[in-house]
Amino acid sequence: MSEVSSLPWAAAPAAGNAIGLYAKWTPTLDAKIAAALQRLTDASIEHGDGLVQSSSLGVEDMVITDLIARTQLPIAISTLDTGKLHPETLALLPRIQERYGRTVEVFKPVADAVIQFVRKEGDDAMYKSIELRKACCGIRKMEPLGRMLKGRSAWITGLRREQSGARGDVAFDEDDGNGRRKISPIADWTWAEVWAYVEKYDVPYNPLHDQFMPSIGCAPCTRAIAVGEDFRAGRWWWEDSTKECGLHAKS
Ligand code: ADX
Ligand code: SF4
Repeated sequence: MSEVSSLPWAAAPAAGNAIGLYAKWTPTLDAKIAAALQRLTDASIEHGDGLVQSSSLGVEDMVITDLIARTQLPIAISTLDTGKLHPETLALLPRIQERYGRTVEVFKPVADAVIQFVRKEGDDAMYKSIELRKACCGIRKMEPLGRMLKGRSAWITGLRREQSGARGDVAFDEDDGNGRRKISPIADWTWAEVWAYVEKYDVPYNPLHDQFMPSIGCAPCTRAIAVGEDFRAGRWWWEDSTKECGLHAKS
């Protein structure tokens, strides 16, 4: 199991820039980039149209999109727009189009289901109980994910082992528990390596990463983290849970 990252927040200037704070090219990064590209190429050959990149538009996913686009791999890129994403996150969609000429497929929740849930439980239901938070994730993420993956045999994620203890054993290629392959081509990259890649290839990224949000999800469920806090401490911070929404839960 790899070590969960400890971020150098203590060294952060008042207005930080994520590249300046974290990017560090390592002696093994060239080989890791080549290996990630090989995994994407192999998956594309094996699964063809059955393969999709599931992008949260977070920095790991932007690195993978850059790898796919720069090498012109015919892999669809999709995102789940929960209706609760930050405007800064959604602003990446036109930037991807401009930069790479790729249209990201957007999957949204069923409007009626959202309206009824909010009417019954309130717009702040996620804070009331874990059950209601999971119900919100079910409507806004899991159901659209099902549509994204329908008819597909494999999906690509930006999961990294360093992100949390629960993710310490993420495999490059594993069964997702629903009969599909889940491919995580940069599972072994460190946070410093992700940002070194962003710097070298000038990858567009969410400016919220410059504001101490290493892990970005829906706006009501994401906050900046403080000095010494874990990588995912800003996700569902009020919960004493494993901080997973169901996309990657193991149980
Ligand atoms: S989460 O389960 O807590 O939300 P996290 O934000 O760490 O996950 O992202 C891990 C991976 O899950 C991302 O690299 C991406 O592959 C997938 N993912 C997360 N959120 C989304 C989203 N909104 N749309 C598509 N894929 C997503
Ligand atoms: Fe709802 Fe928060 Fe889950 Fe987004 S992360 S779907 S707002 S509970």
